[in-house]
Amino acid sequence: MHCVTVELGVRSYPIIIGAGLLQKTHQFQAHIRGKQILVVTNNTVAPLYLDSLLGSLASFDQVDTLLLPDGEAFKTLDTVNRIFDQLLQRRHNRDTTIMALGGGVIGDMSGFAAACYQRGVDFVQVPTTLLAQVDSSVGGKTGVNHPLGKNMIGAFYQPQLVLADTDTLNTLSARDFSAGLAEVIKYGVICDEPFFAWLEANIEALMAREPWALADAIERCCRIKAAVVSEDERESGRRAILNFGHTFGHAIEAVQGYGSWLHGEAVAIGMLMAVELSRLKGDIDLAVVERLSTLLEKASLPLKAPQGMTSDDYLAAMAVDKKVQGGRLRLILLQSLGRAYISDDTPKPQVISALRCCGVEN
Ligand code: NAD
Ligand code: GLY
Repeated sequence: MHCVTVELGVRSYPIIIGAGLLQKTHQFQAHIRGKQILVVTNNTVAPLYLDSLLGSLASFDQVDTLLLPDGEAFKTLDTVNRIFDQLLQRRHNRDTTIMALGGGVIGDMSGFAAACYQRGVDFVQVPTTLLAQVDSSVGGKTGVNHPLGKNMIGAFYQPQLVLADTDTLNTLSARDFSAGLAEVIKYGVICDEPFFAWLEANIEALMAREPWALADAIERCCRIKAAVVSEDERESGRRAILNFGHTFGHAIEAVQGYGSWLHGEAVAIGMLMAVELSRLKGDIDLAVVERLSTLLEKASLPLKAPQGMTSDDYLAAMAVDKKVQGGRLRLILLQSLGRAYISDDTPKPQVISALRCCGVEN
């Protein structure tokens, strides 16, 4: 078992990572203050893990469950309203705890509901996808999509506990597992070149879901994310580097229709676009682009942009990115492998050239 702390003063919290944690009753008892709990999950995860989790919560007075429909297309305000309905119908008080059991979609919506219900109640993340264990459950970004932009409605709201049971990753589909690897690879690219090299050396073990490789990678990613979030919780500066590849990726998700391209798949091709742009700016050489594309390919992630999306489609969707300031597009680019920075002076023709390098037509 590994424990990483997100240091945020009185709002600090542990990320506990290990096999079989869903059955560890004492972890829940130690971190949950109230007597009421609402477990929010979906109809894919519930049959796999809900009973096991409920077994560990047996000592609490009132444990309710809510099963939401599965999928990014349901990451909406309407779905969050169903969480409020359940909380009110079951008379949950201000000292209730909302517990997210699932991937990033369930985690983002449950956290947003926790931020809003009675102006804020306790929140626990039990992430069950690789993406959620290395990224979305940590750091307190919560929210939903809007038809005009990804994650545009939301709040910063930290959990009291993140409990990542690595055994749950055994049931994840190959496609969802690969999508999670995109965010794992992101950490190496933006701020940890030795980790990138470790990933190159161990990608086969990760793809085989070797428990030691998964545990090492998840802990390393959580340490990186915890450090960045502790320094800049509300993204006034450095935290933006965690969005490497996301400005391009969010454009793909929004234009293609949420759920058509998985978030991690869109981030993978978005990272390639960002490294191509960094190469065009003269900051990195072709070898870095090739190392990234080789690693993405070994992780079974896409290397070519979706068909039928033009550079105008990208630029229009990217204009509603949360990093836009004063009408200026801000992108996360690379100074070198393992060193990302925020750029706000990239000329549009250069962005278009980078898109073309990744297969975007006209
Ligand atoms: P997801 O939540 O849709 O989960 C992927 C699929 O796996 C779903 O069908 C889910 O039901 C299923 N699933 C979950 N756990 C499983 C298990 N153990 N076994 C079998 N199937 C399982 O997607 P995701 O990749 O976890 O998360 C993507 C979302 O996370 C996006 O909405 C993205 O915007 C968000 N995100 C948020 C942050 C943040 O900081 N809050 C960071 C990155 C991504
Ligand atoms: N996934 C980006 C962030 O948490 O800041």
